[in-house]
Amino acid sequence: MATQSSTDPNKDKVIHEYDGIQECDNALPNWWLGILYGTIAFGAIYWLSAESFKTTPSPRAEYHAEMEKIAAEEAAKMKAIGSVSDESLLAMAKDTKALDDGKGVFASTCAPCHAANGGGSIGPNLTDANWLHGGAPMKIYGTIKDGFTAKGMPAWGPALGEERVRAVAAYVVSLKNTNVAGGKAPQGDPEQ
Ligand code: HEC
Repeated sequence: MATQSSTDPNKDKVIHEYDGIQECDNALPNWWLGILYGTIAFGAIYWLSAESFKTTPSPRAEYHAEMEKIAAEEAAKMKAIGSVSDESLLAMAKDTKALDDGKGVFASTCAPCHAANGGGSIGPNLTDANWLHGGAPMKIYGTIKDGFTAKGMPAWGPALGEERVRAVAAYVVSLKNTNVAGGKAPQGDPEQ
């Protein structure tokens, strides 16, 4: 058993001693107590504000508000670009900016199956006068958007979004009847 000398600084604070190990009743440091009481106070205020008085929006409410905002933006965007028609696609097929966008999409997304110049490889030649699913602008747009998945043409609507589907449809309209050299043999019915 250890003996406490009169110079031991813990002399008055020892509340328990066992095998020479002393347990003292020291005051907790103020910074530590500050954090403890601070978190308790924060928790109480947050609980009252979020759960009792609903002054702080809940994560669920924030999520719904965010989703509504995105849906409204999407609706506004669709309204701004207007509805799609043979006329709007023909107009886009003459618009340099839209054609450039469409050409970019074609190069990255369609060229692997339809060849870089649209002359066809796995997919049909898009530069001749023959069409399996119709060569009218809205038919081409529908084919691109919804695909013919069972025949190997994917539906691009979900992946590309409305604007890019329209741009690439306008680009395909501009390729029609350009009959690139070395293109695949015609498939489907001839159209003007
Ligand atoms: C994975 C290969 C593949 C990719 C990638 C692909 N297509 Fe196709 N596409 C096909 C096949 C195969 C067909 C023919 C479907 C059939 O036989 O009915 C086709 C058909 C079409 C047709 C109809 C042609 C006709 O004669 O009526 C158009 C238009 C078309 N694709 C445009 C596109 C565009 C634009 C893209 C890029 C956004 C694209 N395709 C990407 C494989 C593909």
